[in-house]
Amino acid sequence: MASLGINLDHIATVRQARRTVEPDPVHLALLAELGGADGITVHLREDRRHIQDRDVQLLRQTVRTRLNLEMAATSEMVAIALAIKPDMVTLVPEKREEVTTEGGLDVVSQETALQGQVSQLQGAGIPVSLFVDPERQQLQASQRSGARWVELHTGSYAEASWSQQPLELARLIEGTSEARQLGLRVNAGHGLTYQNVEPIAAIPGMEELNIGHTVMARAMAVGLQEAVRQMKDLVSSPRHEPLFGAGLAAES
Ligand code: PXP
Repeated sequence: MASLGINLDHIATVRQARRTVEPDPVHLALLAELGGADGITVHLREDRRHIQDRDVQLLRQTVRTRLNLEMAATSEMVAIALAIKPDMVTLVPEKREEVTTEGGLDVVSQETALQGQVSQLQGAGIPVSLFVDPERQQLQASQRSGARWVELHTGSYAEASWSQQPLELARLIEGTSEARQLGLRVNAGHGLTYQNVEPIAAIPGMEELNIGHTVMARAMAVGLQEAVRQMKDLVSSPRHEPLFGAGLAAES
């Protein structure tokens, strides 16, 4: 059964629109946890466009589930993570001009640099997950980097037309299976919605889905706790049969 990580970045985006103190992701994390979130995720971006350093420091003290810190693979961010000690670091690619994270990390081209950062973080007891596209070469390089986890990028699946979506789903099922054969544990996220999440939650071996935008959008209508509860129902009991790869089901 997959668990649910709730990404709170958008709460900070609203606050930063006025550079004021509300809404506060630190306060609202409690409602996400009451709604059934198994973890809280925030992305501390280099440009601090939404989440601020103070948010991460306070969330570290207040989150009662697990705190997953998304960040770029830079020495500034590694130093922050080493000081704050989140329960997991997810390394993501970051471009200043992007609206949101575009594509997975190219682990293949930065394998040596990533090896150093993964070993620093994991040496300090912080498990590292690499946000990657479900491609064999990226998964193999992720394993060589020493990371114990990958987060498979679900953006292509989420954006695919209905006729292409089964193909993208198959890539994610295959990627999950390959990652697990390499000894990696598997999360996924990006672009997931109430409408498309169930097939991903049903993938054998999938451990956690990180979801933000769609839950924050629904929260405007029904409140955050209820929006998280509705997503938790879908993620924990998906009404969708996995297409194939059922052999891994026994392990999950
Ligand atoms: N996972 C990663 C690595 C992300 O960068 C994001 C977006 O910040 C998410 C998951 C959540 O994506 P969404 O907001 O589209 O649900």
